[in-house]
Amino acid sequence: MNRKIIVFDTTLRDGEQVPGAKLNLHQKIEIAQQLKRLNVDIIEAGFPASSQGDFQAVQEIARSVGDSVSITALARAVKNDIDAVYESIKLAQNPLIHIVLGTSNIHVEKKFNRSKEAVMQMGIDAVKYAKTLLPDVQYSTEDASRSDFEYLWKTIEGVVKAGATMINVPDTVGYAVPEEFGDLIRRINERLKNLNDRVILSVHCHNDLGLAAANTLSAIKNGAEKIECTINGLGERAGNASLEEVVMGLKVRENYYNCHTDIRTNELLRTSRLVSHMTGLDVQVNKAITGENAFAHSSGIHQDGLLKDKQVYEIMSPEDVGADSMELILTARSGRHAFKNAVEKMGFDTGDGADFEQLFEKFLTLADAKKEVYDHDVFYLVTNHRTLDDSSKNLYELVSFQVVSNDLHPTATVELRKGSETIRDSAVGDGPIDALYSVIKSLVGLDIQLKDYKINSLSRGKEAIGRVNIRLEYEGKIYSGRAMDTDIIKASATAFLNGINAALLDA
Ligand code: KIV
Ligand code: ZN
Repeated sequence: MNRKIIVFDTTLRDGEQVPGAKLNLHQKIEIAQQLKRLNVDIIEAGFPASSQGDFQAVQEIARSVGDSVSITALARAVKNDIDAVYESIKLAQNPLIHIVLGTSNIHVEKKFNRSKEAVMQMGIDAVKYAKTLLPDVQYSTEDASRSDFEYLWKTIEGVVKAGATMINVPDTVGYAVPEEFGDLIRRINERLKNLNDRVILSVHCHNDLGLAAANTLSAIKNGAEKIECTINGLGERAGNASLEEVVMGLKVRENYYNCHTDIRTNELLRTSRLVSHMTGLDVQVNKAITGENAFAHSSGIHQDGLLKDKQVYEIMSPEDVGADSMELILTARSGRHAFKNAVEKMGFDTGDGADFEQLFEKFLTLADAKKEVYDHDVFYLVTNHRTLDDSSKNLYELVSFQVVSNDLHPTATVELRKGSETIRDSAVGDGPIDALYSVIKSLVGLDIQLKDYKINSLSRGKEAIGRVNIRLEYEGKIYSGRAMDTDIIKASATAFLNGINAALLDA
């Protein structure tokens, strides 16, 4: 029998825990909408007890995409966290409460300083309480792969009897190896099916040894029915199992796994790019499935073989993951209809009339500057437009700038607006960007350290868009900012201000 594997995406929870990957409300909703297009089964939208902002984001996601995709959020095994999850997801059609509590000796002893029995009882009580709020409750046995098997099983038995409908077995620290992890899942599955065969068995693997996707696939082979993963493998430390790798592994090797998912694989590349763009975290060029070189063949022998038959060196086609070779080229004369078509073809909603007009104006400005507008440009135009935060009214905006570059005293003059106030100043620096960032730092008056500055070209054509990604440190925390423009100095200033605004929003 070909089993369906449930795909649970935790990009917006585990993925967002990556330092500097903090997303604003609009960005989270845009990603959630794309995850819905990708057709994941469950979206873990956040950790609502962690902050008011997270609570609000989970609530908005439940409202805006929770009609057809199940929404969950994370709670520790305490009443306040469970209440926050319930309140934030209750408007979704299929809300699921996710509770996590450690089962390894090290977690029980070091984190809770209580007896194993007392910790297990905390978990059972948490499930019982969650069941008074919603019928669907997932229980994660944190650090399961380093837990004593009999204690792990006793905990699973206890929480299933208390009403848990999904048991998630995490390799929290990425310690597991495929054969051993597969064996663990097989043993749990045999007992679980005897206890209650309606309870779903799930896995959540981290990538500390680069084995997260392999461990996840091994778990599937041994009976796991649900997998937790993230787009681009984002997540704590080395990240989580990458959704695109596991899904394509199952698809390409369906003959071996005899399983399938409902993922629309031709949305994978777009989802990966959207998440990379929103988080400012680049995808390595040789990353499986979504890296820039994933379908590039450079050796002569390979190219010759491919020309004879694609299957000689390709196990999947670029079209399967959405790397459609058909490129659309628009110009300022293309008109509203063609532009609307291009936006819709990428899967974006064109919004209401007023919003579309604003977007079209931006398209015209870009088309005037660039002459030829490619798919890539349209993609970044829309995502950039959608990620502007309404609360930006109280944040810093770039009004104007002038940068003079020479080998003696590169100088920048910048004018900024914050609310109704306009401020202006000049500074010299070691180079044009240093001068630009010095004057912005002195204008905002914050002790900010620039940690990383990256610029790359986003598209082809003579006037390619430059994308600037920065990372800065403020009060011990890392924030990222990005911006795109055909003018790279303007993109540099805006990216820096976006990073500063992110820090201010978090304060
Ligand atoms: O890694 C982990 O154990 C987790 C749990 C919350 C599932 O992220
Ligand atoms: Zn995790």
